[in-house]
Amino acid sequence: MTLHPATSSVPEIGVAMIGSGLMAKSHTMGYRNVESVYGSTPLRPRFEVLADAMDDLASSGAQSLGYARWTTDWREAVTDPAVDVVDIVTPNFLHKQIAMAAIAAGKHVYCEKPLALSAADAQEMFEAAEAAGVKTLVGFNYLRNPAIAEARRLIADGVLGDIWTFQGRFVLDACSDPDVPFTWRFERKLAGTGALGDLGAHIISLAQVLVGPIASVVGLSRTFITARPEPTGAFGYGSGADLAAPRREVENDDATTFLMQFASGASGHIEASRVSTGRTWHQSIELIGSKGALQFVQQDIHTLRLYLTGDPADRKGYKEIELGPSHGDYGAFWPFAGVPLGVHELKTIEVNEFLHAIAENRRPDGDFEAGWRVSQVLDAVEQSAAERRWVDIK
Ligand code: NAI
Repeated sequence: MTLHPATSSVPEIGVAMIGSGLMAKSHTMGYRNVESVYGSTPLRPRFEVLADAMDDLASSGAQSLGYARWTTDWREAVTDPAVDVVDIVTPNFLHKQIAMAAIAAGKHVYCEKPLALSAADAQEMFEAAEAAGVKTLVGFNYLRNPAIAEARRLIADGVLGDIWTFQGRFVLDACSDPDVPFTWRFERKLAGTGALGDLGAHIISLAQVLVGPIASVVGLSRTFITARPEPTGAFGYGSGADLAAPRREVENDDATTFLMQFASGASGHIEASRVSTGRTWHQSIELIGSKGALQFVQQDIHTLRLYLTGDPADRKGYKEIELGPSHGDYGAFWPFAGVPLGVHELKTIEVNEFLHAIAENRRPDGDFEAGWRVSQVLDAVEQSAAERRWVDIK
């Protein structure tokens, strides 16, 4: 028997990962899995460098995630000639400066949500990338869901008729405990808004893709736990707390709800909360149209519920569509229906879209323009909640 070498002529693309937390892991899994999942890739990621502000995190992150080199200065990673893609998975306040430096260096940029701390900053990032001719992507991974691909198809085919209402929730109780420490997510200059930008941004991106532009909003934001203990570790959901230390005042919303009117005339509402006691992690949407309706719960990722007004009177009711190979990119993972995918697998679909867009020299679905459009809604909801009135989005 002869052992043959596995040869390949796939061009490579050098990746710099900026940040080494939860999303660094998810993005790296995405790059690593594309070729195995899809059976081919137009560009094979080469894991060049990982940057983190803290040297222990940078070195351990590079080692566990498989990057060749590490640095504590993201500027070194961004300008490294071996790097083609800069991947930004830092706290939100750094997104803009890193992205602008990467764009100036001619690199493609994949950035987590929310794209920036303001819509004006997000617009600047989008326009700079357009002018430089680089490809961009924002981490709205729930858009990649095969259920959402199917929902987009049903709407585009007119199966639901005119869309009248959209409702969406992204609520979790990760911060319901008042002893959850004061990490960057609670500090305005590092995070921007709280639950609104962290969780609501995902639902806004779904609403815009499924129903179209949002024209005006009226929101209500609340901070229920007003002070939290200092963290013992610097970053992330996993940080511990120094319960004996003085507490710091929380600077952004624990929960935001808003009503919206779409440009199409449809109405809707979105709820985002990080203190939704008992709702450990819940994300759902519901769309109601003139000919039918859809319900989707992210935790029941393998099932899309569809109601059609045209069903015979004795067969009326919601029907459960089991997601399978005919829906979105599901078939890349499983050859038969009904197997639940995971959130990290949605990132693999997202990375695949990015690699194809770069290789095919086309704009990725969900690029910085989509990030800017979401930021416009975030700004409007924040303004509306502060001023207790409807705000139009231009
Ligand atoms: P995290 O707190 O787990 O990690 C952030 C990392 O950035 C830390 O390792 C920290 O040391 C590093 N960092 C801080 N300052 C830095 C600097 N100057 N240079 C280099 N690294 C620096 O945060 P997480 O949860 O990974 O979030 C990162 C981003 O991803 C955020 O924008 C967040 O909104 C987004 N996110 C997106 C999710 C999604 O489903 N798409 C889920 C969770 C987070």
